[in-house]
This record gives sequence, structure tokens and C-alpha cells, in this order.
Amino acid sequence: MKNIIPPNNIKLRGSITIPADKSISHRALMLASIAKGKSVVNNFSNGKDPLSTLSVCKNLGVNIEIKENNTVIVNSYGHFSAPKSILDCGNSGSTMRMMAGILAGQNFNSVLTGDESLCKRPMKRIIEPLSLMGANISAVGYKAPINITGANLHGIQYSSKISSAQVKSCILLAGLFAQGVTTFKEPALSRNHTELMMKYMDADITTNGTSSIIRKSELTPRTINVVGDISSAAFFMTAALIVPGSDIIIKNVGLNPTRTGIIDVILQMGGDIEILDKRVESGEPVGDIRVKYSNLKACVIQGDIIPRLIDELPVIAVLATQAEGSTTVKNAEDLRNKETDRIFAIVHELKKLGADIKDTPDGFIVNGKTTLKGGTATETYNDHRLAMSLYTAGLICQKEILINNFDWVKISFPEFETLMNSLM
Ligand code: S3P
Repeated sequence: MKNIIPPNNIKLRGSITIPADKSISHRALMLASIAKGKSVVNNFSNGKDPLSTLSVCKNLGVNIEIKENNTVIVNSYGHFSAPKSILDCGNSGSTMRMMAGILAGQNFNSVLTGDESLCKRPMKRIIEPLSLMGANISAVGYKAPINITGANLHGIQYSSKISSAQVKSCILLAGLFAQGVTTFKEPALSRNHTELMMKYMDADITTNGTSSIIRKSELTPRTINVVGDISSAAFFMTAALIVPGSDIIIKNVGLNPTRTGIIDVILQMGGDIEILDKRVESGEPVGDIRVKYSNLKACVIQGDIIPRLIDELPVIAVLATQAEGSTTVKNAEDLRNKETDRIFAIVHELKKLGADIKDTPDGFIVNGKTTLKGGTATETYNDHRLAMSLYTAGLICQKEILINNFDWVKISFPEFETLMNSLM
């Protein structure tokens, strides 16, 4: 439970450093675990999801040590060993879907499971293509637990109907162990951290637009410096844009173009946002972001931009309540398959706070600008991004709000509240 009591006349001022990217942390640990030798992952995320990946890799016999300052040392024989128990992925879809790709091509059996939410999420999207590669993989009703009997895989040419980085990564990871060539094509480009990190670790992978081509390869162990998470930064960008008088700098934010849809939307809405000191870290672009309170106007969000901001849509709904006009989100039906049905959840909860918002089958429509009244209890649906989106909305509510099960924030961003407080 969490009470948000907006202090009178708060302004957000100052600078924060954004903690490690969750998606990159998962990939760093997985790829380091199958690269023979010693890899070092600096600035590994301490969210519960990446820690699920870490414990699954440990369970598969990899020697992993966590040092101070979130540095992780991985010593690998270059392959996994049969697990001693069922592999628990917790709440993490990335852990389950990507690990399934690696495990399908090993010479032992394994079972992947997760919490109540993860065991309800669709797994057909990975089971079908992996089966085409010769994997022996099954799950009742295509829902976890997933049973995998290790098999010899062969490459396929796969054209995915959905743009999902988890599905793409699963197939590319399987392709690392498959005979021949594996080609994956998606309708619009989803986050490409797997492709970039595989290249950085010498895998035989090439990319061309929305296609990736991979051949069986061995990885070179490396030092990976994980950049800050733009999906975590999104709550602070939104907070600064909607709390009058705010002016903040968010440091060390990953700016991979497959993740920066939120910045494009803010610019389209007329938000005052500026990128400072752009640089490259372990193959990923990174920079600092300055954001100021702004008068916003509505916009339409649809098509190829959706995978570039899929995780930011709940907080974009909050942003849209403060934009003049009607903001429409379309083509985002996969939001219903996340940790919870995020279309239902954000619409239901923001309505309680006084927003003019309605759901559609593949998105939502928000009419702004509205005063958020607050004065009510809200639910997180045990979803970290709902928790942080509601907290952000709470900053501009006229009356205090209560957020039940706020603790789920720890899935991706345990430092969220401390950092927000440091700006007040
Ligand atoms: C992720 C991909 C996205 C995203 C998730 C993390 C990843 O999921 O929603 O939080 O790390 O690859 P989909 O690939 O299912 O869209």
C-alpha cells in the first residue's frame, strides 16, 4: 500500500542518474553465461526481473558473483548444464521467452515456470517457431510451465506476425545453436539489444531493416556496461512535463532508436525536452535528457512507433491527460498481454482519478486537459509499470491517492521513489 500526498506547490528540480536498463541486463547475463570465459557486467539492474534471469543462469551451472556497485562477474564453460530443479522466472516474460530459445538447443531437459501472472501469458508465439526449428517444447494451453527436451535445432526462415523483441530474441538465441541459417523478420523493428550485443560478442549475425540473419556461433566474453533504462526515465520525463515549474536532468539514459518512441511523442506534443552529451556505451547510444514543464497538445500514436514505446504507454496515458485535445493510441493490442491487461488497467484506474479516457480494442483515447481530482484508492494489478504510472499521476492530483500493492515497483525499479523524492 502507498499513499501519495502531493506536497503543496511541488516542483521537480535537479538531476538524477537513471538505473540500469532491464532489457539489456537480461541479455548481458544470458549472453555472458554462454560465452566461454570471464565476462563482466557493470551496472547490472537490481530489479527483481533481471535477478530472476541471474538465478536461472546460476541454476544452469554458471558461476556468477555479484560484487558491490552492481557489478556481476560471470565465469562460463561456454554452455549451460542440466538444472537441479524447475527454473523459476518469477514475473519476467523476458527471462522465460529468451531462456526457452537457449534451452531448446541444449542436450538436457528443463522446465520453465513463473508467478501467477507469467503463467497466464501467451507462449504460443515462441513455442510455434521453436517447434519449426526442431525443438521439443510443450506447454498445456500454450501457457507456462514450459517443458523442454533438448534437441538438435536447424535454422528456419520465420516471418513473425507480431513485432516482439522477446520472440525475436528467443529465435535468434536458438539460432546460435542451430545448424544452418536462421532468419527472423518482424512487421516493425522492435528493440534490437540482442542483435547489438550478439555483434559486440562476435556472433555471426547480420541485420537488414526488420530482418536478422544468424548462423551457429560461439560468443566472445566481454565487459558490458549497461546503460540507464529509458523505460524507467519515462516516469520522470512525464512527471517533469506535467508538474508546473519543473526542470530536471536525467543522466545516463539509453537512447537506442528502437526505444526512443517516448521522446518522439513528447516532441510531437510540444514538450520541452533536450538531449545532452550523446555518446556510445557497449554498442548502445546513451545521453542525458533535460525536461521542463510544458504546455502539451494531443497527438495520435500508431503504427511502427508502437514497439518503440510499448512499455511507456501506461505513463503516456497519464501525460495525455495534461495535453490539450484528443490523444489516440492505436495498434497496441499486445498491451493486453503484458504483466496485466494494461489497456484495461490504466483506463480503469485513471478514470477513478478523474481522467477523461476510454479504451478501444487496440488502445485508448484520452481527452485533455483535465484536472485530476484524486482522493481515491487505486490498484496496480501487481504490475510495476501501473504502480509507477499511478504514482506519477498522483503528483498532480488535487487530493491524495492511495496505491494498493505499490511494492511491485521492485520488479524493474526499486530506486523509483527515492529518486522521485530527491527531485522535490
Ligand atoms: C522486452 C520486450 C517487450 C517489452 C518487455 C521487455 C524485451 O516485450 O514489453 O518489457 O526485453 O525484449 P515484447 O517483446 O513481448 O513486446
